[in-house]
Amino acid sequence: MDIPFSRWHLSIEKRRSRRHFDPNLPIAPEALAALDKVCNQFTPFLHARSRLVTESANSVFKGIIGSFGKVKGAQAFIAFIGNMDDPFVHEEVGYTGEGIVLEATALGLNTCWVGGFFRPEIAASLVKVSKKERVLAVTPVGYAQESESWGERLMTGFGRSHSRLPLARLVRGLPREKWPDWVDMCLEAARLAPSAANRQPWGFDVQDDGITVFVRTIGPEFNVSKRLDCGIAMLRLEVAAADRGHRGQWEFLPPPQVAKFKIYSQSVLLALTQCGK
Ligand SMILES: Cc1cc2nc3c(=O)[nH]c(=O)nc-3n(C[C@H](O)[C@H](O)[C@H](O)COP(=O)(O)O)c2cc1C
Repeated sequence: MDIPFSRWHLSIEKRRSRRHFDPNLPIAPEALAALDKVCNQFTPFLHARSRLVTESANSVFKGIIGSFGKVKGAQAFIAFIGNMDDPFVHEEVGYTGEGIVLEATALGLNTCWVGGFFRPEIAASLVKVSKKERVLAVTPVGYAQESESWGERLMTGFGRSHSRLPLARLVRGLPREKWPDWVDMCLEAARLAPSAANRQPWGFDVQDDGITVFVRTIGPEFNVSKRLDCGIAMLRLEVAAADRGHRGQWEFLPPPQVAKFKIYSQSVLLALTQCGK
């Protein structure tokens, strides 16, 4: 499936995590069908996949203490699944899953990446995974309650979890005045990405021919790989670049680097345009 760059780019500004859903508002059947189709078709990597499940969604989520922090009222969820034999499974699942999350946003649905407070064994039994596969994260899907509940506001630190670090703290490499014109918008799209506990573990090394994403922070992962967060930022970076007409491809790299987005030269771009890509 070709990435609908402009559609997903528009979703980047709109998306925010929502945890409490309206249990009485069924998801529009057209939206559900469209989301299911994208889950099945957006498979950029062999070992990462997404599955929409419309039963038992509430049994998949759990609270931090008791029911505090628990996702409530969701009528469906999406499981983000990876084959653990793949050395780049976390970034592949993050990249793939964020495409699905941005599509859900475009369809008017609310979501919340959940990598910690869910029951992977229940999610796995509902989607049927192979021996090598694991459900690395899930998202509830539905229509969020119109205004944020007290519990939701507490979970976001009264909105603080929506804030992000400035680019100056995240970037190294070429000085800003030498950045090619497409870099600013890409890094902004990546900077705004969601991450587990809003830890923003990514860094960006800007070079003449592309951008390398790397794990910038040290410290424990708390059961959710920082490389999964970085995969989410990668998808956003590429979406923003392509929306400005700059295409490229990812090369995965060993830790602490994650991957380099190499921009195609003008001749490659021309060849791609000629064969209708
Ligand atoms: C990989 C990943 C795992 C996450 N796990 C959880 C989780 O277990 N529980 C939860 O309530 N939120 C979880 N979140 C949501 C983050 O807390 C949220 O994205 C972050 O605080 C930024 O807020 P925003 O998404 O509203 O911009 C997770 C996000 C990501 C990307």
